[in-house]
Amino acid sequence: MPGHRFEAKHHKRLESAYRRRILPPTSTLKRFGLKKGMNVADIGAGSGYFLIPAARIAGPGTSAFGVDASDEILRIIDKKRHPSNVKLVHSRDGYSFKIESGTVDYVIASAVLHENHPVRLLREIRRIMKRGATLLIIDWRKDSLRAGPPAEERLSADEVRGICRQSKLKVTKSENLNPRYYAVVARKA
Ligand SMILES: C[S@@+](CC[C@H](N)C(=O)[O-])C[C@H]1O[C@@H](n2cnc3c(N)ncnc32)[C@H](O)[C@@H]1O
Repeated sequence: MPGHRFEAKHHKRLESAYRRRILPPTSTLKRFGLKKGMNVADIGAGSGYFLIPAARIAGPGTSAFGVDASDEILRIIDKKRHPSNVKLVHSRDGYSFKIESGTVDYVIASAVLHENHPVRLLREIRRIMKRGATLLIIDWRKDSLRAGPPAEERLSADEVRGICRQSKLKVTKSENLNPRYYAVVARKA
């Protein structure tokens, strides 16, 4: 059973000073291979926490797609100062994105997989990825419950690695980032 979807009214929680300290967006993206010149998509972009730094790293001439199922949250991003390569994409059902197949070099899925049917979501993510593209999944650890969704809604890193393999994505890295989140990196062969 997928977990419940995040409500836009809580968007400020995504921008807390503590989160910025334990999960600094720019250095996290660079550390996991996001580079200048890449087309990037942030699935479940929320407040733009990763999307806006990702768009800056990717730079001019690229597309930085901010995909979200919530119209309300996309309006919040749109009101922020953001680079001109940001393209906001509303996905009503959350499982189909208006992005051409095989065009994205780097996909971010942070704190979103557990809110969905993960295999359905990865199928659509894989569709938009180029061959050799990278997928960075960040999600809530199951072994530390001080904040975030209830344990039964979370996916462990082990479960996510299995779902990636089932979705024909090759896992290249998996590690705990901090007391709250882990990262799993996968590649489309
Ligand atoms: C917990 S927030 C995380 C936001 C951001 N990724 C971050 O880490 O700061 C989850 C966001 O994903 C969106 N979302 C959940 N499932 C989605 C889906 N299948 N497709 C697009 N957006 C989705 C929600 O509307 C919400 O804005």
